[in-house]
Amino acid sequence: TGEPVVLTVNGTTCSVDLPRDTKLIYVLRNDLGLNGPKFGCGLGECGACTVLIDGVAARSCVVTLRTVEGRSVTTLEGLGELTALHPVQAAFIAAQAAQCGYCLNGMIMTTVAFLARNPAPTLEQVREALRYNLCRCGTHVEIMRAVMAAAG
Ligand code: FES
Repeated sequence: TGEPVVLTVNGTTCSVDLPRDTKLIYVLRNDLGLNGPKFGCGLGECGACTVLIDGVAARSCVVTLRTVEGRSVTTLEGLGELTALHPVQAAFIAAQAAQCGYCLNGMIMTTVAFLARNPAPTLEQVREALRYNLCRCGTHVEIMRAVMAAAG
């Protein structure tokens, strides 16, 4: 596989000895034991696998290991801890914004990146930001409520 790929994941430097065309989601879930990102469509369309790459939301099912070489990846696990949740995680829990919960990784990671750019959004801007994150249960109203609460 050539030289290992070095990247930073949740603040820790990792060296991964896998082909560079391996999709990031497999590296995170199978090799690094980070199960926050969920596999939904595998086509970059549903958002369940979202992570942050240098702070920008990206779909880890279509991003390759090559793309993240030398960069900083943050997964859901890197946001907060059980005793100190990230404010967006806390807002989603307070709003009970889950039914099956499968989409929530993507909803939360996308929200974190969005609020970093736009800390005081309108409801319309929130709707637009999460437009391409799919939820099959239909909890969008609670999700919107959670994001507006997180924005404070
Ligand atoms: Fe990556 Fe659907 S699993 S966008």
